[in-house]
Amino acid sequence: MPELVDDVYQCDVLVVGGGGAGARAAIEARRHGADVLVVVKGLFGRSGCTVMAEGGYNAAFSFVDPSDSREHHFEDTIIGGRWLNNQKLVEILVEHAPERLIELERFGAVFDRVEPEKYDQRYFGGQRFRRTVHRGDRTGHEMMSALKEEVYRLGIDVLEEVAITRLLLADGAVAGATGLDLIHGRFLLFRAKAVVLATGGAGRVYAITTNPFQKTGDGYALAYNAGAELIDMEMVQFHPTGMVYPPSASGLLVTEAVRGEGGKLYNALGERFMLRYDQERAELSTRDVVTKAIYREIAEGRGTEHGGVYLDVTHVPDEVIEQKLGTMLSQYLDVGVDIRREPMQVSPSAHHFMGGVRIDPECRSSVPNLFACGECAGGVHGANRLGGNSLAETQVFGAIAGRSAALTASKRSHARIDTAALEEEHRRIYRFESGKGELPYTLRAELQRVMWEKVGIIRSRQSLEEALRKISELRQRVEQVGVESGLRYNLQLLTAVELENMLLVAEMIARSALLRTESRGAHYRSDYPEEDPRWVKNIVVSRADGGMLLRTADPVITKMPP
Ligand code: FUM
Repeated sequence: MPELVDDVYQCDVLVVGGGGAGARAAIEARRHGADVLVVVKGLFGRSGCTVMAEGGYNAAFSFVDPSDSREHHFEDTIIGGRWLNNQKLVEILVEHAPERLIELERFGAVFDRVEPEKYDQRYFGGQRFRRTVHRGDRTGHEMMSALKEEVYRLGIDVLEEVAITRLLLADGAVAGATGLDLIHGRFLLFRAKAVVLATGGAGRVYAITTNPFQKTGDGYALAYNAGAELIDMEMVQFHPTGMVYPPSASGLLVTEAVRGEGGKLYNALGERFMLRYDQERAELSTRDVVTKAIYREIAEGRGTEHGGVYLDVTHVPDEVIEQKLGTMLSQYLDVGVDIRREPMQVSPSAHHFMGGVRIDPECRSSVPNLFACGECAGGVHGANRLGGNSLAETQVFGAIAGRSAALTASKRSHARIDTAALEEEHRRIYRFESGKGELPYTLRAELQRVMWEKVGIIRSRQSLEEALRKISELRQRVEQVGVESGLRYNLQLLTAVELENMLLVAEMIARSALLRTESRGAHYRSDYPEEDPRWVKNIVVSRADGGMLLRTADPVITKMPP
């Protein structure tokens, strides 16, 4: 290997990402006999979105509402997704969500119950039945602890604080990856027979987000640069309820479980405004509807003093708040608000990417030996995800991706690594250390601001074109970025590398949003405010010689006509 490589790792299946989907993929790949290595940009089990997920996991057990069924779960998901979902993937989700949840209990997770053999299930938006299994309002934490235990019990290797920077190809198929060791700044080579991308989404592309720092769209950029197709990138979900103050907590998730347990939304005039936007479902309408309603109340001057709306649970019995919403109670007590006695103030926050790597039912991407699952993959949720479907997705598709990758790996040997590609990647990363210009943080903040303002909840041709101009300007300025070299834990270098990924993802979102001349689900165009039946189409993004290529494709339909 060339001298520029500081360390080489070899495995059958490389899992990139250590959240719920990555951990589940690793477990399944190991069960199928693969030698697995999980590489995590942060700390395994403590970084990423799953561990922060609060409200729950959708599975049609019909314990609390006997008339619920997998068919109803399917229908709610498709209707919530405004017909853009890959219906085959949705069939798989609803079919396997219950068994994957039972398996989590075998790994050690415990979910709330109404009787010893029956899970408690709560309402979540856009669902006609109480379907969301939970552990109070710290469901993801419970899941992640159990998954982590199982990964270690199976003896799976985990490498923490390493960012995967590029996928390496041999004869058009994935043969490994390069990585940046964040603590020592070393350049790493990973040789793998199959790679699973489970890196989550890219909420950090936006100024206000529920997502942790690691969510910079790395998996989308890795897949795109390797030649894979991505789908529905314009479909970014803004969670209706993030904290609005203090500024340091801005965007922090206020779980939908608050509304699931009876929370009501009011504007500054004391009006329960959701009844005007969706009389039937009110606060439990789908997230796209609730987010736009809150946005409008605030924009039209009916917001609170901190620029949000009120979310009130003071009518809910104290013991329910303490047992079911304990995290919310302490999150607000920390800032001096007792939610048992006074309302919260909330406003929307970038939360989830419905789009992502285009996969088939085996989680295969369009590039051989490359698989994707969880939020990194697209297609399950269409134009709008139902709360609670994401945790289920991590387990259902994590397991499929792990199995598929292990089976692929079992049929091949390690391919030769192209030294020129390694050298090029080394040059790309470490060029920042010889740059003379500004630090990457300024550019990142400018990108996050323009994405929030121009490619956020409300978009238009004009705002999207402005954003694309800004993205192109920032791309030029990236070439001037300069970071210190030889730092231990070089966050400057990591941020510069992440920034290139974020700019790429931002361009995918803005270009796709510009192409979609209608409003659908989470994508709202003020210049095309109506849903247009001609736009029951997915937008597929891929890399071409001349730049980014966008095309439309028909969604996969198995049961329900649009
Ligand atoms: O509101 C929440 O607890 C988030 C859940 C989800 O995004 O699935």
